[in-house]
Amino acid sequence: MIDLNDFPLPIYNGDIEDAGVPAKVREMQAIFDQHDSFLIATPEYNGAVPALVKNTLDWMSRSLENGDSGITLFKGKVVGIISASPGALGGLRALLALRDQLAKLSLWVAPTQFALGQAHEAFDDNNQLKNDEHGKRIQAVIEDIAAF
Ligand SMILES: Cc1cc2nc3c(=O)[nH]c(=O)nc-3n(C[C@H](O)[C@H](O)[C@H](O)COP(=O)(O)O)c2cc1C
Repeated sequence: MIDLNDFPLPIYNGDIEDAGVPAKVREMQAIFDQHDSFLIATPEYNGAVPALVKNTLDWMSRSLENGDSGITLFKGKVVGIISASPGALGGLRALLALRDQLAKLSLWVAPTQFALGQAHEAFDDNNQLKNDEHGKRIQAVIEDIAAF
C-alpha cells in the first residue's frame, strides 16, 4: 500500500525535473510498474481532486529512468476509485474528476465506485468501518477490478 505521507514530493515543475527527478518519484514509479491494478482512496478538497493526488499522478506520468513514457505504468491496467469526506456526498465530485484524469492516463477505470459520506463518524477506535454495508460497497469496487 502506498501512503502518500511516505512520499513527500515537490509540486511538479519542469525545472525540478530537469535538475534531477526526486528519488521518491523513482521509488513510486517502480511500485506502479510492479502492479497490474490499483485502488485509489482520496478525500475531496473544494469539490475537486486534492492537489496531492493530482501532483502524484503528474509525477508518475513523466518519463521513467529507462526513457520509456510514464504512461507505460498505467496503459492497459485497471484502477478502482473510492473517496471519503465528512460531507454528505463523501467526495463524489472528486471521484468524477479523478475518473477523467485516470482515463486520460490510459487506465481502465472500474465502473463501480464508492464515496463514503460522514466519514468522521464511520470508523471505530481501531480504524475499522462500523457499518458492514460500507465494507460491501468497497468490496464491490474490488470485485470490479478483479473481474477486469
Ligand atoms: C482545503 C479543504 C477543502 C475541503 N473541501 C471539501 C469538499 O469540497 N467536500 C468535502 O466533502 N470535504 C471537503 N474537505 C474535507 C476533506 O475531504 C477530508 O475529509 C478531510 O480533510 C480529512 O482528510 P485529509 O486529512 O486526508 O485531508 C476539505 C478539506 C480541506 C482541508
